[in-house]
Amino acid sequence: MDEATITPYRNGPYLVRGPFRLLDQDGNEIEVRRGTIALCRCGKSRTRPFCDGTHKLVEFAAESAPSADRSPATAGSNGRSS
Ligand code: FES
Repeated sequence: MDEATITPYRNGPYLVRGPFRLLDQDGNEIEVRRGTIALCRCGKSRTRPFCDGTHKLVEFAAESAPSADRSPATAGSNGRSS
């Protein structure tokens, strides 16, 4: 596999399968020790940005597929959201 894939899991995290680099908003590298990681989508993880399974406790609910009325998030010219 030569490109990363990101899969929003139903009622769970985003699974990211490499190769990829994970950076914070300031461009600092976040150390990743695995080729596949789960990023928190519910906002309740104690190990953000990684999923720690808390989404099950808080009964986070979200579909895997895009919402029917989705509109793209805006991003600056550098591709980063502000
Ligand atoms: S998605 Fe798993 S803890 Fe948030």
